[in-house]
Amino acid sequence: RKYCAIAAIVEKSDVGSITEVKGWVRNLRVQKEFSFADISDGSSAQKLQIIIPKHLKTEQLTYGSSVKIKGKLSLSPRGQLEILANEVNVVGPCVVLDGYPFNPRTAHPPEYTRQYLHLRSRTNYISALLRIRSAVVKHIHDFFNSRNYINIHTPILTSNDCEGAGEVFKVQPDNEDTIKAMMQEGKDKDSLYFGLKTFLTVSGQLHLEAICRGMGNVYTLGPTFRAENSRSRLHLSEFYMLEAELAFCENIVQLQTVIEELLKYIFTETRNTNEKDIYLIDKENKKPIWLDKPFVTLTYDEAQLILNTKGSGTGGDFNKEQELILVDHCGGPVFVTKWPKDMKSFYMKECNNDSSKVDALDLLTPVTGEVVGGSLREDNYEKLKLKLPSERLHWYLELRKFGNIPTGGFGLGLERLLQVLCGVNNIKDTLPFPRWPHNCDM
Ligand code: 4AD
Ligand code: MG
Repeated sequence: RKYCAIAAIVEKSDVGSITEVKGWVRNLRVQKEFSFADISDGSSAQKLQIIIPKHLKTEQLTYGSSVKIKGKLSLSPRGQLEILANEVNVVGPCVVLDGYPFNPRTAHPPEYTRQYLHLRSRTNYISALLRIRSAVVKHIHDFFNSRNYINIHTPILTSNDCEGAGEVFKVQPDNEDTIKAMMQEGKDKDSLYFGLKTFLTVSGQLHLEAICRGMGNVYTLGPTFRAENSRSRLHLSEFYMLEAELAFCENIVQLQTVIEELLKYIFTETRNTNEKDIYLIDKENKKPIWLDKPFVTLTYDEAQLILNTKGSGTGGDFNKEQELILVDHCGGPVFVTKWPKDMKSFYMKECNNDSSKVDALDLLTPVTGEVVGGSLREDNYEKLKLKLPSERLHWYLELRKFGNIPTGGFGLGLERLLQVLCGVNNIKDTLPFPRWPHNCDM
């Protein structure tokens, strides 16, 4: 009985056996002869009811306390599995009046629990979301493993601003002596990371491209940082991005196919593996109708035309409202392709028949609008050389010199994906410790 998670106990249903559970009291009803406690161990949505005879109930057994309980697994008159306790051990009492912010009678909205990041994993909503997050990561790895992609760890410290949007955080040592020594060596203020201007990565793409040109299809899933001064419900300073790079990719449709299959796989698998968790977050969450239909594709120009007919066309990059209008119009996820070159990053490949456009895509979905950004990569040495934003990217250019191949890839924001999957309005509830402008206290 090494593994005694509550979900496993319930699944095994070994009625009559003496069983031990460890967890937290999520609900407690005290009656004359017995108390009834709902115990959760956090590892699943499954709770177990414990029946505690009067003589075993201690004062410390309250809502929120942690407990170890032994007793006989029984079936209630209604046929529900429960434990009739004969040993109750309160491991950590929880004095609610001492400032514990949750109680079982009130529904705590996410804005409220967000004030207690260190305690909110005790709520149904956040624990369910974190379990779903863990499952989604597993499904992502399964998807790429089954297709023989190699998982690559790209660096977090980097000298490039891949997206060129000026949203990088600069990294410096926090040590007076080190800084003094470097200044004495003649390094300028901006170059204090041992002589190089260094950032937290905004994307692992350029490094992924290098490995792709030696190992074929690759992917990475890791933390990414953006110094966007945006406090919207969709932006974080630190988020997790899944990035994949496809070798010998000559056509943006190849990219679209992988993205669509990936999304449908994650949605289908997670709705199976975490059905109860999804229910805890949103009882109304139904299988989206678009799961069984092909995603729509629009070119950027077609999307602008649609927005014009709805009185919302501007000609520039889409704002969130416009993205959601397009999703609504198409009845589900929509790829927008063939973007004006000057709106997109330097590494994107020019369209074959229109040099004012690049072979880029955004995937727009309900809830979040953009959830994926991707493109074919400029693989022509001379063209790339003209667009290279910095001498320090000479290595990236050189990739096009030796055994070059056409590649394409994309980045999917894990937190935004969770928002779409679970219908979560604010991105800050999809990870345990969100970082956004002016918020990094714990
Ligand atoms: O569109 P983006 O900027 O694309 C790239 O970084 C490419 N280099 C990816 C690639 O081709 N390998 O970002 C990709 C996705 C966005 O669509 C969005 O889902 C997410 O990353 N994202 C953010 N998520 C949360 N907070 C932010 N501040 C985000 N910025 C981007
Ligand atoms: Mg983008």
